[in-house]
Amino acid sequence: MSVTNHQIRLAARPVGEVKPEDWEHCSGPVEEPGPGLFAGRTRVISLDPAMRGWLDDRPSYLPPVGIGEVMRAGSVIEVTASQHPDFQPGDHVVGTFGVQEYVVSDGRGAMKIDTSLAPPSTYLGALGMPGMTAYFGLLEVGALKDGETVVVSGAAGAVGSIAGQIAKAKGCRVVGIAGGPEKCALLTGELGFDAAIDYRAEDVRKALRREAPDGIDVYFDNVGGDILDAALTRLAMHARVVICGAISQYNNATPVQGPSNYLSLLVRRARMEGFVVFDYAKRYAEAAQDISAWIGAGRIKVKEHVVRGSVDDFPETLQMLFRGDNVGKLVLDLG
Ligand SMILES: NC(=O)c1ccc[n+]([C@@H]2O[C@H](COP(=O)([O-])OP(=O)(O)OC[C@H]3O[C@@H](n4cnc5c(N)ncnc54)[C@H](OP(=O)(O)O)[C@@H]3O)[C@@H](O)[C@H]2O)c1
Repeated sequence: MSVTNHQIRLAARPVGEVKPEDWEHCSGPVEEPGPGLFAGRTRVISLDPAMRGWLDDRPSYLPPVGIGEVMRAGSVIEVTASQHPDFQPGDHVVGTFGVQEYVVSDGRGAMKIDTSLAPPSTYLGALGMPGMTAYFGLLEVGALKDGETVVVSGAAGAVGSIAGQIAKAKGCRVVGIAGGPEKCALLTGELGFDAAIDYRAEDVRKALRREAPDGIDVYFDNVGGDILDAALTRLAMHARVVICGAISQYNNATPVQGPSNYLSLLVRRARMEGFVVFDYAKRYAEAAQDISAWIGAGRIKVKEHVVRGSVDDFPETLQMLFRGDNVGKLVLDLG
């Protein structure tokens, strides 16, 4: 009996927020894997803010997703058939397999994972790309030193929640910025941050004066815009501003809002540096080892927001990131 593959493809380039009509649902028969290939069924799909940038036709660190192409996404698949020497039926594999139920792959960029150590979703979160981003962004780009004052925006999200907890594990004073009282309570409660600022309810600039009275040594920025501007007013001498992302700007139909307070970099002899996590790919094993150890020791609590559904739920699930509906790593679990 032939099995049908369901996929989500890009139908049109969005302007501003992504709309349902920017996507198209396609289906077709699942192919048998030929020599050197394996086939798998998708178990969990990663939802990432960067996906919004991949839909725009402009130069970036990856080429844009083409109109009519399967939407690019990281996912974990379970191998169902194989003519590849390194992948056997039953193996779980993480890779960039796209928003589709079934995948045929030659194994390039794919990595076997051990689901007895952590569930598949965690290889898309704390032990996957977001965890690596937090680790290298904070420790390499941010050059974090023990005991410093660290401020993280988007702090209750996939990257931010891990970045803040790594900084705590390094003995820092950690202030998280997030939207809403529940997220702030999570930060100062279960996740052990020293303070949390609800940017929807308070003036971030004033709150940073209260929570970082001696200034910010490392500002780990996930959101850009007004919050980046507020953080720039509170930098300590020789501070490092890590430009990880700017989700507040991704849906802009107008030019990105640049930081108006950037001259504080001059006054404070500070540095602002962006990075792309893929540049650290050769060192992922090192980060995964450290993060696993922190998880094992209870120093890092893994927060995941699991939506159960089908690939048809992808468009609506992606929008959750931009509304702030997720706590921790957002994934779509296909079962
Ligand atoms: N440089 C790299 O290599 C790299 C790699 C991975 C991710 N990133 C970046 O890291 C950032 C976080 O990614 P993630 O996967 O961890 O996502 P996430 O934080 O799990 O989810 C996005 C969160 O952003 C917040 N947000 C949405 N709109 C906002 C706005 N207008 N202003 C302020 N906050 C807003 C929401 O939380 P609230 O409820 O708190 O608003 C939302 O939950 C993104 O900017 C992403 O592009 C960069």
